[in-house]
Amino acid sequence: MSYETLLIEKEDATAIVTINRPNKLNALNKQTIGELHEAFKDLNKDKSVKAIILTGSGEKAFVAGADISEFSDFSEKEGKKLAAKGQKQLFNFVEELSKPVIAAVNGFALGGGLELAMACHFRVASDNAKMGLPEVSLGVIPGYGGTQRLPQLVGKGRAMEMIMTAGMISAAQAQDFGLVNHVTTQEELMPLCHKIISKITNNSTVAISHAIKAVNAGFKNTVNGYEQEIEAFGACFATDDFTEGTTAFLEKRKAAFPGS
Ligand code: COA
Repeated sequence: MSYETLLIEKEDATAIVTINRPNKLNALNKQTIGELHEAFKDLNKDKSVKAIILTGSGEKAFVAGADISEFSDFSEKEGKKLAAKGQKQLFNFVEELSKPVIAAVNGFALGGGLELAMACHFRVASDNAKMGLPEVSLGVIPGYGGTQRLPQLVGKGRAMEMIMTAGMISAAQAQDFGLVNHVTTQEELMPLCHKIISKITNNSTVAISHAIKAVNAGFKNTVNGYEQEIEAFGACFATDDFTEGTTAFLEKRKAAFPGS
């Protein structure tokens, strides 16, 4: 499938999704959100893909937020619908994807851009990256999960300050806060993501998908994370990956996971 606002590349078992609206600093308009949904859905089904990197085109921005020009004249009802649809279609969808999704934050990650990076399973940033939730400076609040995921990642007090001040933090500060796992140069950003993915893809893809579900469950009010872990743990025992992983260990050889 071809997209107007995205570039999709595949390198071995890794897919790289690049949001490609550099003239608008990769701001998320309706079309981009729809295309991201389709792209993630396709890649999740694609058996040749084991992990996904999400990044922005150009050297300046990951994503500079939701496209302000699209919602500046919205009514209360339209605003509510925008947030509800976006959360379901993209942000929750990415978080629940069964394959690892890493955000390669290569510049500004603001508003919906930071919310998208936070919906990914973890984040790696280049040292020029700047992150923030500036929504209150526009008279609105984060609507794509930012008020929930930022406190989960950095703690309530830091999240409150970031949201209330609408300010930006540097990549180094984001690492100190635990918002990004690693910071590197712009040149090394993608190689570092690939290096981390090469460690991930040595492991059982089926077990990883169960782990994603169990970890996410702990952040939901409707599910008990410990119960979810028990279910997911049990389910692993019925997989070929489990048979191969344990057999390989006992036979003192490297596992060759079938991915089923
Ligand atoms: N929505 C729509 N367009 C955006 C955008 C957004 N969130 N962020 C940037 N753009 C557009 C600008 O309007 C400009 O378009 P133009 O050249 O057609 O005028 C283009 O991207 C380049 O941005 P510009 O502001 O000129 O770059 P800059 O280097 O001077 O500033 C930022 C960079 C990120 C500080 C600034 O673009 C900004 O504050 N963006 C909005 C961030 C925001 O509030 N996001 C949350 C939205 S809820």
